[in-house]
Amino acid sequence: MKILVVEDYAALSAAGAEILESTVREKPNCVLGLATGETPIGLYDILVKKYAEGLDFSKVQTVNLDEYYPLEPTNEQSYRAFMNMHLFDKININKDNTNVPDGLAADVDKFCGEYEALIDSLGGIDVQLLGIGRNGHIGFNEPADELYPYTHLTALKEDTIQANSRFFENEADVPRSAITMGMASIFKAKRIVILASGAGKANAVKTLATGRITTACPATLLHLHPDVTLICDKAAYGNN
Ligand code: GLP
Repeated sequence: MKILVVEDYAALSAAGAEILESTVREKPNCVLGLATGETPIGLYDILVKKYAEGLDFSKVQTVNLDEYYPLEPTNEQSYRAFMNMHLFDKININKDNTNVPDGLAADVDKFCGEYEALIDSLGGIDVQLLGIGRNGHIGFNEPADELYPYTHLTALKEDTIQANSRFFENEADVPRSAITMGMASIFKAKRIVILASGAGKANAVKTLATGRITTACPATLLHLHPDVTLICDKAAYGNN
């Protein structure tokens, strides 16, 4: 794992955006794996600026990591709404080429199998962007004795519900479950970029930086992938 420690959030956003930008320039029909959360917002803002300067997203395809369940895509807290608001509505991407798990899937198991097949049919993800939860989760692969390889429905941990309640009016409104790509789905990406910003992520980054692997911190499994770049600011890197 390459670890890039940058000064602050602005530098982290710029470094992450540069990787996605060069991927789009080199391969206009690339497949980008995208993430939500506060961390990638600055990166998406930069991509929107690059679009204004001529970067073409018309052939790009995207696959998102996760979505709350159950939650309708029109709900402003849904990850579909997040992606539309921060990126898709502001660039020339074809919305038909953007994929976010369906928070209203009637048959979840069937849907998860189809989402996995979709990732495969796109020929694999060129670059997968990840954030990291304070507890070390990636997507919604929460710390546990066992992790799931493929796209699945999962229950959110109490600390994740609390952390994510800042986006909802009440904690009670946070959905208790989510559909998420699994570890093997994420590992299908040719390249992975994981972003960590702020002191709240320092513990998770510390565990990650030990170089050891534990399902108690799912992000550590990324040490098994051949092409991962961790970009973190000084606050997240802490005293490592
Ligand atoms: C959520 C998402 C993750 C994200 C994480 C960190 O739970 N499912 O994909 O990486 O939170 O979010 P933030 O960037 O807001 O700290």
